[in-house]
Amino acid sequence: MSDNNLLHCENIHKYFGQVHALEGVDFDVGQPEVVGLVGDNGAGKSTLIKCICGIFQPTKGEIHFKGEEKEFTTPQESLQAGIESIQQDQALVEDMDIKRNFFLGREPKNSLGLLDLKEMRQASMDGLSDMGLEIRSPDVNVRELSGGQRQGIAIARALHFNFDLIILDEPTNNLSIKESKKVYEYIQQLKQNGLSAILISHAIQEVYPVSDRIVVLRNGEKIIDQDREEVEMEEVEKAIVGGEGDEDLEHLLL
Ligand SMILES: Nc1ncnc2c1ncn2[C@@H]1O[C@H](COP(=O)(O)OP(=O)(O)OP(=O)(O)O)[C@@H](O)[C@H]1O
Ligand SMILES: [Mg+2]
Repeated sequence: MSDNNLLHCENIHKYFGQVHALEGVDFDVGQPEVVGLVGDNGAGKSTLIKCICGIFQPTKGEIHFKGEEKEFTTPQESLQAGIESIQQDQALVEDMDIKRNFFLGREPKNSLGLLDLKEMRQASMDGLSDMGLEIRSPDVNVRELSGGQRQGIAIARALHFNFDLIILDEPTNNLSIKESKKVYEYIQQLKQNGLSAILISHAIQEVYPVSDRIVVLRNGEKIIDQDREEVEMEEVEKAIVGGEGDEDLEHLLL
């Protein structure tokens, strides 16, 4: 793979003290492409995407986005470059209402230079109803919402602003089956619009049907990187857990 890709990560290492969380991972995302990033607890999935979006800095390795080497030091920098990420643990700001959360950092202003609250109310409600999320008012504080509703808002927000790359870390964790299905439908739509996504999940059954390529991390190393059509779901499931037959994995790396 090369710099022609939207995202190109080369030999990424990350240490947390003695813990070697990423051990030389190469990771690419094409345009448009949906990459399913899977692996067991502690495999390094969140660490890798936090390195990509500037929450962490890799200890070693290079990240290229749209053909340029990048060293993002904050998530705001990656956002400005065109990468929107929804983290597993910090999807929304607790003390703000829905419309404020929806526009976080991208608030529209009116002709007086003040927040355009009317536009914020309208657009946030439209975004949520497009996803099939029924919320009574954009003025509700997110503290009053369920986990699933919060995740839904974070996803609707990411989908509303057309980013080049959207990273979703366990997006359906707290969602009902119906809401999860909707999220995956949206991911398909993103791709039809020429956007790319990284989809992180434990649930290979959910990710497999919507991904163009499957990447498996285990103990900080990439052990599978294959077009979806070239790898069976059962093979991926086995690789995630590890154990017998590991010596046969070599052919599943690009
Ligand atoms: N901020 C941190 N400080 C110290 N160690 C960390 C930190 N973040 C992650 N780690 C360690 O790095 C390794 C990879 O963690 P990571 O969160 O990337 O896993 P993951 O694949 O996202 O797992 P999960 O599926 O549970 O979310 C783990 O051993 C974890 O304990
Ligand atoms: Mg994680």
